[in-house]
Amino acid sequence: MKVVLQDLVKQYPSSSSIAVNHVNLTIENGELAVFLGPSGCGKTTTMRIIAGLETPDSGHVFIGERDVTDLASKDRRVAMVFQNFSMYPSMTVYENIAFPLQVLKLSKDEIDRQVKEAAGLVGVGHLLQRSSRQVSGGEAQRVALARSMVRRPEVFLMDEPLSSLDAKLRIQMRTEIKRLHQETGTTIVFVTHDQEEAMSLGDKIVVMDHGNVQQVGTPQEVFFNPRNVFVANFVGTPTMNMFDGTVKPNGGGLCVDLAGIELKLPERFPGASTGMPVKWGVRPESVKLVDDGQPGDVPGTIELIEALGSRQQVFVRAADKLFSAMIDALHPVRVGENVHLRFDHRGTHLFNAQTGLSLAEPH
Ligand SMILES: Nc1ncnc2c1ncn2[C@@H]1O[C@H](COP(=O)(O)OP(=O)(O)O)[C@@H](O)[C@H]1O
Ligand SMILES: [Mg+2]
Repeated sequence: MKVVLQDLVKQYPSSSSIAVNHVNLTIENGELAVFLGPSGCGKTTTMRIIAGLETPDSGHVFIGERDVTDLASKDRRVAMVFQNFSMYPSMTVYENIAFPLQVLKLSKDEIDRQVKEAAGLVGVGHLLQRSSRQVSGGEAQRVALARSMVRRPEVFLMDEPLSSLDAKLRIQMRTEIKRLHQETGTTIVFVTHDQEEAMSLGDKIVVMDHGNVQQVGTPQEVFFNPRNVFVANFVGTPTMNMFDGTVKPNGGGLCVDLAGIELKLPERFPGASTGMPVKWGVRPESVKLVDDGQPGDVPGTIELIEALGSRQQVFVRAADKLFSAMIDALHPVRVGENVHLRFDHRGTHLFNAQTGLSLAEPH
């Protein structure tokens, strides 16, 4: 089912800041949308409003074509999975999954069919007769998914369901949620503060900060075309290099003066004008290290090297600034070495320092 949030506002009486600030959003039927943002940005509150567990101060929630704003949670056909799922310890895995169906007073055969189908989809079919005490954290999380699935929700809400799992299991479960989504076609809203998890899962990423939606786009859009400084800094690991500067004339075009470094600006930034205070950024993946400098390259000295498997992150000091570059692990480098930085201009970004907004032309 399609989910539409229309001008949602929520402020907790005990809190001075707004948890959800005029949020407008459309999640298409069958889409996997990810809410991404730092702790406290309003992700859980927005989810709880969709689920009907929290009442907005103003605004509307539509599921399908229906305005559900005043509808009780149980009548919304949404299922919510939380970070810390607990099973009923005295029950078997089977009984845990069957529980919501027993409440609905379905026949034994029908319950059996639905439990097995849901368990099979999340890969816990072989655990059904186990006691809840005998399953691992990852298995418990799958049981949680199966238990919410048997209610046949039209919308799945998952609030950081993987964050209590260890790194390896988290990546495995990510794949399974993606498969679950493909096989059921159910609309899923998934919350995380982990940008890598968001990028790997989402059809659509909703970047939030301080109750505001900062950008909505595909993983590629928010990575390659961040619309403001917040999104540019929050999305991508390692973080984008970003420095303050001023736009200046340069020949027939423009350059950015980063106090000690002058860089010609490509024509992609029609919003830039002479004298404007800006923030200039480049992703570490778009910084190359070259031995022989050409005009436009920036000389610097290697200060620190971090090995990261197939890649290495190299920190280079240039004109009092520290740049990070992500390069191939086999590229020979050593601390103290003099190098030149070369920026792939497709990976560079420019923002108005006052508004924080991107000066790049929209793609
Ligand atoms: N029950 C509550 N009472 C008061 N303030 C709350 C409550 N729940 C959340 N908040 C506040 O609302 C803001 C958004 O919180 P939340 O939606 O939990 O963010 P997130 O899930 O992104 O971490 C935060 O400032 C938080 O402190
Ligand atoms: Mg939360």
